[in-house]
Amino acid sequence: MTAPGKPFTLNDLRTAATTKQRVAMLTCYDFTTATILESAGVPMLLVGDSASNVILGHRSTIPITLDLIMQLTAAVKRGAPRTLVMGDMPFGSYQASDAQGIENVCRMLKETNCDCVKLEAGASLVPMFARLADAGIAAVAHIGLRPQAVGLMGGYRYQGRTAAEARAIVDLAVQFSRAGAAALMLEAVPPEVGQRVVERVNIPVIGCGAGPHCHAHVVVLQDLLRHTSTQPRFVPQPSGSSLIEIARNYVTEISSGTYPQLAHCYQMVDGESRKFLSEQL
Ligand code: KIV
Repeated sequence: MTAPGKPFTLNDLRTAATTKQRVAMLTCYDFTTATILESAGVPMLLVGDSASNVILGHRSTIPITLDLIMQLTAAVKRGAPRTLVMGDMPFGSYQASDAQGIENVCRMLKETNCDCVKLEAGASLVPMFARLADAGIAAVAHIGLRPQAVGLMGGYRYQGRTAAEARAIVDLAVQFSRAGAAALMLEAVPPEVGQRVVERVNIPVIGCGAGPHCHAHVVVLQDLLRHTSTQPRFVPQPSGSSLIEIARNYVTEISSGTYPQLAHCYQMVDGESRKFLSEQL
């Protein structure tokens, strides 16, 4: 996908998306693991706010602070200098105003050396994405299931179950693409929604349980390794006996199209898939 030793960049992700090569991404939260994942050939790492769960032991992603996520992001980038590292903007670091968000995104980029940032994004964030793009900042809009909105959602439920819900997700994706988002992260939606989003936007779509049509796929490393007590249905079976082997096999499963399979996908409510797919593009 990229020559050994050459950094994997956003342009490589864009090229992969247009040439239909599938790209692997894993979460990572520390220097040592980052060195191993880079050696395994994982081209993209997300320093996700899921660190709140899997590193700190909280029940949600809400408590983790910007300062801590920045420290972890800087460590991962030091360990994986040739890997595209995405810093996750935690809850409370961008919701107050566009000014707060832009200031904190700039801190994340300047102080961690990460390559891009990710923000969980509802419609009110579209103008902020336009301003970030105008400032030359690569920002990824995380839509679909948004774990930072767990309070309002009343739990972690996959999204886009009905034609109306699915349409709303696709419309939002189009708005962020038009506003200049660098990519989309689409979490926990049926594959029909993943497919429509890919068809409707002209930026890379990174799926996290969003079906086989997405250009790239990410899972939480601790879920892949079965270090967590339960895993979402879209997490593949690990294969291999060491971290480097499991990571290499994960990359191969994605690039060969073996992952994700139907068994990893969420389903729309009966009758809703046909209704959604019959709608005009
Ligand atoms: O924080 C995280 O781990 C995420 C997922 C989409 C992988 O945002």
